[in-house]
Amino acid sequence: MFKLISLVVLALAAALVGSAEVGYSVTTPSTVTNSSLSFGSHYAVLNLDLINASVGSVNGTAQGQAWIKNTAKWIDAVHSQSPPPISIFSRVYFSTHLLPEISANAPFMSTVAAVGNITESSVSSQIYPRFKLLPRYDVALQKTRFFAGADNALVQILRSQKIDTVIISGIRTSGVVLSTAMRLFDLDFKVYVIANNTIETGDDATAINNVILRGILPKMPLDVITIEQAIDALSRSEATYY
Ligand SMILES: *[C@@H]1O[C@H](CO)[C@@H](O)[C@H](O)[C@H]1NC(C)=O
Ligand SMILES: *[C@@H]1O[C@H](CO)[C@@H](O)[C@H](O)[C@H]1NC(C)=O
Ligand SMILES: *[C@@H]1O[C@H](CO)[C@@H](O)[C@H](O)[C@H]1NC(C)=O
Ligand SMILES: *[C@@H]1O[C@H](CO)[C@@H](O)[C@H](O)[C@H]1NC(C)=O
Ligand SMILES: *[C@@H]1O[C@H](CO)[C@@H](O)[C@H](O)[C@H]1NC(C)=O
Repeated sequence: MFKLISLVVLALAAALVGSAEVGYSVTTPSTVTNSSLSFGSHYAVLNLDLINASVGSVNGTAQGQAWIKNTAKWIDAVHSQSPPPISIFSRVYFSTHLLPEISANAPFMSTVAAVGNITESSVSSQIYPRFKLLPRYDVALQKTRFFAGADNALVQILRSQKIDTVIISGIRTSGVVLSTAMRLFDLDFKVYVIANNTIETGDDATAINNVILRGILPKMPLDVITIEQAIDALSRSEATYY
């Protein structure tokens, strides 16, 4: 019995934070060939689910460390822009330990069950310490489903600041990254996903990460770019909103 319960707990933990396999690639082909890539003047940077609970599932691996290093480098490069564009971070947590935002039989429940009753003050819902928010500029939004804008102010902020372009980093590729890229694509935003800044966990993580970055996203079509292209594009982009 104890063994069975342990197996169930392990399976649930794997659903959110992933089992041992980590899918990460630094050989993803870019969909952009223009060497003068620019994000324009109304772009926002989306840094998705960079919380202890998710990052803690990959930071013990070499791939996880490479992903953390690249994502942090990107976030720091964005912050060094003058003026800095808006960076929006998503965090997964519920209003109280009773999880009022979700019913017990909602499909997403299987994904959150692994982290227990995660609330705003939970250690597991805090942004992983290596990633910093720029005070007075960056925004952190609560979310309780895969999509980064699920019933929160994400789209309201993008519309209010007349954002037309978003650049996505996050964990996991098949969760918040794919969901958010597709939803914002349908809302007519120009979407870029930075291949070096997304990571997948769980069974078949490598294959899933590759098929999304090399197949599904380019086919939309939306752009999958390298961190080098993204940082280079910052010098040709200027956030002129507010
Ligand atoms: C990022 O990924 C690209 C391929 O998509 C690769 O050429 C580049 O070396 C990677 N950069 C880093 C810093 O990992
Ligand atoms: C490359 O991007 C720049 C914007 O930075 C644009 O002005 C130019 O037309 C693009 N070139 C091509 C061939 O699409
Ligand atoms: C990984 O992240 C978790 C959650 O923040 C933390 O408890 C743990 O110490 C980290 N491990 C490493 C190797 O950085
Ligand atoms: C979450 O809250 C419910 C309801 O109070 C409780 O039954 C359950 O044990 C809690 N789970 C965890 C992991 O704290
Ligand atoms: C989680 O994040 C917070 C804030 O970033 C940090 O102070 C804390 O040490 C982290 N927890 C773990 C277990 O690493």
